[in-house]
Amino acid sequence: MHPAIPPELLAAFPKDFVWGVATSAFQIEGAATEDGKGPSIWDHFCRLPGAIADNSHGDVACDHVHRWQQDLDLIASLGVDAYRFSMSWPRVRPTGAGAFNEAGLDFYDKIVDGLLARGIKPYLTLNHWDLPQALQEKGGWAHRDTVFRFVEYAQAVAARLGDRVAAITTHNEPWVMATLGHESGVFAPGLKDRAMAMQVSHHLLLSHGLALQALRAQACKARLGIVLNLSPVGPATDSPADQAAARLEDGRLVRWYMDPLLKGTYPQDVLDHLGADAPQMQADDLRDINTPMDFLGINYYSRAVVSALGSWDNKTSGLALTDMGWEVYPDGLTELLLRMRSDWSMPPLYIMENGAAFRDKVQDGKVHDAARTDYIARHVSAVAQALQQGVGVQGYMVWSLLDNFEWASGYEKRFGIVHVDYATQQRTLKDSALWYRDFLGRQRVRPAAQAPQAAEV
Ligand code: FCB
Repeated sequence: MHPAIPPELLAAFPKDFVWGVATSAFQIEGAATEDGKGPSIWDHFCRLPGAIADNSHGDVACDHVHRWQQDLDLIASLGVDAYRFSMSWPRVRPTGAGAFNEAGLDFYDKIVDGLLARGIKPYLTLNHWDLPQALQEKGGWAHRDTVFRFVEYAQAVAARLGDRVAAITTHNEPWVMATLGHESGVFAPGLKDRAMAMQVSHHLLLSHGLALQALRAQACKARLGIVLNLSPVGPATDSPADQAAARLEDGRLVRWYMDPLLKGTYPQDVLDHLGADAPQMQADDLRDINTPMDFLGINYYSRAVVSALGSWDNKTSGLALTDMGWEVYPDGLTELLLRMRSDWSMPPLYIMENGAAFRDKVQDGKVHDAARTDYIARHVSAVAQALQQGVGVQGYMVWSLLDNFEWASGYEKRFGIVHVDYATQQRTLKDSALWYRDFLGRQRVRPAAQAPQAAEV
């Protein structure tokens, strides 16, 4: 049974809407020490006792480096328009400075050409969290020099691939790298220092803006942008304390990134709250961060509910929870998209990640993951509702193509629409993948009359 998306909602998607699937390098590639790849902060972090729930690491992961051709065939079999993937910076430049690694660049060259040969648009992310460990040892993202190493990396990649990739994302989810990596310490590099976390967020944003300027200066043809993890943030109760806490959290999660990128300012309430922990910056930094983007990517999984008392028990909400313990709340995506349009002057938007972890089982060669299919269909409907209200969303990518290394949760959480048996590396299309493939097939044959008409000239 396919979850029904009402025809009037399907009609909201323009014919050139980009449908895709997403992965990231560290989560699927493996081959951690092959062909000259240097260690990343995640290779290092995985070795710290207790850092990863199942004590696993990325040494083999989905063995994508050795199986990329069959994985690209798998992507093509789904009938998607685009594949969003990331490059491993230490595979391309092992120490983050100094010589580039030709073998690493060649690998991504083959991926890009392999995608194009299959009629799939490459959406490349430069930094999906796997900073070269050698740069971390010099201070990592807290150190201003890392900004310039990132710009050099971006320039080298764009010189090599910029003529063939459809889009280049500078960073994936700077909030996660800054806050989970440097404040709560649950992600690499595992540090716990709020002032450092805010400095990291500033350097990530600055390196994004400077990379955009550098790539434009070298006439890079790809569309350029960044990907943020965003959620609507609301109070647990109507109490003034909860409302204030929710407003601050909205400031730290959403406005701290949106305001500098799109307005060239940091939110004053968050600066006031941070006091001495606010980042050090130089005179032109905010102007550089505010460099115009060709697109903004959004990763959406759930909403955030905030209580002044600290944690809030989402089991009390009555909403279904995924295996991550995240609420299934598709309305939040429509809400978020409408808010983006009303609060900022937006470039075109892409949903760069959306999906869910559930406990899947392979039975007779099949995976009946009805809850995941339902999750995806409801979120696709939520995007359609935003489109109907005129929000400029141009694409949607499922997270993830494959089950993979889910960071601090290791391999215990499965987000793929394709199941991976880690003992044999066998890939099995789950029902959700079959649904997505059939859904995309039906979208393609949708009568043109239902698609929004191009403006009359
Ligand atoms: C996002 C990450 C992605 C994946 C999903 C579940 O925060 O960008 O790599 O782990 O969450």
